[in-house]
Amino acid sequence: MRPRLGVNIDHIATLRQVRMEIYPDPVHAAVLCELGGADGITVHLREDRRHIQDRDVKILRQILKTRLNLEMAAVKEMVEIALDIRPDSVCLVPEKRAELTTEGGLNVIESQDIIKNVVRSLRNAGIEVSIFIDPDVDQISMAKRCDADAVELHTGKYCSAPDKKHSDFELSRLIDAAKAAYKMGLKVNAGHGLNYRNIFDVAAIPEIEEFNIGHSIVARAVYVGLEKAVREMVELLRYSRGKI
Ligand code: PXP
Repeated sequence: MRPRLGVNIDHIATLRQVRMEIYPDPVHAAVLCELGGADGITVHLREDRRHIQDRDVKILRQILKTRLNLEMAAVKEMVEIALDIRPDSVCLVPEKRAELTTEGGLNVIESQDIIKNVVRSLRNAGIEVSIFIDPDVDQISMAKRCDADAVELHTGKYCSAPDKKHSDFELSRLIDAAKAAYKMGLKVNAGHGLNYRNIFDVAAIPEIEEFNIGHSIVARAVYVGLEKAVREMVELLRYSRGKI
């Protein structure tokens, strides 16, 4: 399976919003990501609209040549927006107003009734639904029972592990979780905190189909340009799978 890259462009919008400017435009950035070989574009429309705006999602829906993946909280307002805009896929994420970025996976076991309903509404509209969860088999089983198409495994703990012992442990959790999810018939995605150094071992997990990466690519783009930064990550993903 060829690993696919979804580029998360929230941080382009963050740079725009800190000055309440009209640039840099995440729509322009998305085009450059596609030229660099991205297989899709991911945006997180947060309830507080701190970076991506409704206008961005609407225009992206019209102009993307690849896929639009909308990250959102499992709340009524966002479900209505998704049903209106019809992204190719939705990734349900937990959202807290005070957090700097998404801090952990969604607790599907705790909010299974809400999630089941949201998954049903979105899938009935032909939208693929993924759930962002920690690499935990019980959470994965519940995502399956909620009828999700995919899970996105939270790689944050692996990426921020303080030493080799912890990172080996977190990697083994990701490997086990990916295998379990794949066996259950779920599509397996992964993301959060992945960069040009830590991508190799995660990208080598054969069950993972898609990687959603944002911050490290946008940061590298400051030095080498966005198209090149994306192309370099695409090459690393393929290299890690022995495809180069
Ligand atoms: N996947 C999900 C569900 C996320 O919430 C984020 C962060 O917005 C990412 C992937 C990308 O994380 P990063 O910006 O650390 O690459």
